[in-house]
Amino acid sequence: MTPEHIELVKSTVPVLRENGVALTSYFYKRMLNNNPELNNVFNLDSQNSGRQPRALAAAVLAYAENIENPAVLAKAVEHIATKHVSLDIQPDQYAIVGENLLHSISEVLNVPFESELIAAWKAAYLQLADILIGVEKQKYENLAAQNGGWAGWRAFEITAVEATEAGKIFTVQTADKQATVQTEVNEFISVKVKVPGKDIEQPHQYTVLESTENTYRFEVKPEENHTEYSVSNILLGHYKTGDQVQLTAPQKK
Ligand code: HEM
Repeated sequence: MTPEHIELVKSTVPVLRENGVALTSYFYKRMLNNNPELNNVFNLDSQNSGRQPRALAAAVLAYAENIENPAVLAKAVEHIATKHVSLDIQPDQYAIVGENLLHSISEVLNVPFESELIAAWKAAYLQLADILIGVEKQKYENLAAQNGGWAGWRAFEITAVEATEAGKIFTVQTADKQATVQTEVNEFISVKVKVPGKDIEQPHQYTVLESTENTYRFEVKPEENHTEYSVSNILLGHYKTGDQVQLTAPQKK
């Protein structure tokens, strides 16, 4: 980034922050409209929608503010990358998010898309995207290199469902019966289910209670004020022994 770009970006952070709600709601609507396949990636449950785009835009603004000192954001980068890897976010998706975010910034600031200001924001976004893509690539490689490890989604079959006081404990086994990675305390997985009656899949994270050579156990509790997209309620209401779900490999929180 040029010093001029840095100045331009930093000078518009306050305005964007003031219009944070406009920025994020415009961004999210625009992106899902133009790229409906992302309905399978983002959480559509009403409790969560809104939270994620807010978090994403806030992270981009925080980054822009600290653009001369990205080390400040190292902890945030690690947290975001862990979440992204648990959802199998891929490098090519950064272009989609970037395009929609830049159009939203242009809209909220009321400046033409083909302006120096948006060029400056593009440089800032690409810098952050590059950092995240690099950290995520390393994480995918580390996950795949473990004994029984894998990167991305892997098919598992539900082999047992036990009722608990608060919900149900699901035991899932690798569909190919091959080994999985053993987990330590406080590791989490993403579980992806099909939304009944819709051509949409939705992911959600659960803490692993226990792992054996090729199984994991996790507890699912019902969500209050849920919608038809609530993964926990879908699992509790529709999934039984013999059904398949997709899992990403366990990671530390
Ligand atoms: C520079 C670009 C990006 C930034 C700064 C960013 C930032 C964030 C942040 C702060 C979170 C919240 C983490 C948490 O749960 O605490 C998040 C979650 C997430 N991000 Fe990103 N992200 C970026 C790019 C992407 C891309 C390219 C995709 C894929 C289309 C994506 C998909 C997601 C999803 C699906 C979640 C989880 C949302 C949920 O829980 O429903 N992000 N991201």
